[in-house]
Amino acid sequence: MLKERKIQMEKFINGKVSYEVPMALRTTFKIGGKAEVFIVPDDESDLAELLEFLYKNEMEYFILGGGSNVLVSDSGIRERIVIHLPGSSYFRKIAVNDDLIMARAGVSLVKLMKAAVDNSLSGLEFLEGIYGSVGGALNMNAGAFGTAIGDKIFEVKVMNKRGKIIKYKRDDLSLGYRQGLKGKIILEVVFKLEKARKINIENKCKEYREYRKETQPKGRSAGCVFKNSGKLSAGKIIEELGLKGLSRGDAYISKKHGNFIINRKNAKAKDVLWLIDRVKKVVKEEKNIVLDLELEIV
Ligand code: EPU
Repeated sequence: MLKERKIQMEKFINGKVSYEVPMALRTTFKIGGKAEVFIVPDDESDLAELLEFLYKNEMEYFILGGGSNVLVSDSGIRERIVIHLPGSSYFRKIAVNDDLIMARAGVSLVKLMKAAVDNSLSGLEFLEGIYGSVGGALNMNAGAFGTAIGDKIFEVKVMNKRGKIIKYKRDDLSLGYRQGLKGKIILEVVFKLEKARKINIENKCKEYREYRKETQPKGRSAGCVFKNSGKLSAGKIIEELGLKGLSRGDAYISKKHGNFIINRKNAKAKDVLWLIDRVKKVVKEEKNIVLDLELEIV
């Protein structure tokens, strides 16, 4: 990237501009090369100014949330600015008002769920055990146990590529299974929840936590790699085809749940990609099913 562009950005951005940031430290997979330019905007207006600059200069960007559903290539992210909202305290603000919780994009799902439990609000229990940020979760409409984060939205505030702010109610959005607000920059979400007894909420969380513990592996991963195919669990399909345990370098398909790829220690993105290709090929050949990725590859 042109040095001149970097200097220009440093001048007007109030937030933090860093260079050559190792993405392996910013993703739950612990994989990935360096981001050439990594920016944490201070607030909305800082972000809007940055977007306007990028637009005028025809520069690309990638929004990184909690890093729990991404695989960054071994060569890192070059010629494309990484924008990271959870790094700013402005974007980590959360507030509760009766049965509504307002969370900005950088709030972690763990913190969101804690706020819900603390305030005896039910509806987000399914988030138990899902890492990542509010913005990232809505970007892909993360879900589990038959509920997705989009189901609980009252209102969402986003920014477009030119820095313009737009608000949507839930009915204005067409969300689906693992299909969220891709392409829009999520700034803030208001969730509408239900008052309930705290003990019941806690019990639900515990039940989900135990189910995950029983059925999903620990370790460095990005959660499920593939979307399920209709009602068919991708993990189950992978198990049926005898692909569990398959490994390449330090990456392997979990023996506990077939839809998880684990980084044993120093796996490379190319190892994970090899496993993904292999699984897709065998599933297509043997079952005539095309598996779609849930994981985002950068
Ligand atoms: N199964 C197998 N072998 C496996 C995995 C699953 O036989 O290796 C069977 C299970 O025994 C069960 C059925 O398949 O009968 C469904 O399994 P599970 O309950 O684990 O659900 P899943 O469909 O495999 C989905 C989500 C998970 C979410 C769980 C729990 C997707 C791609 N995955 O998995 O989400 O945690 O349900 O609700 O939709 C994620 O998105 O990152 C993720 C992990």
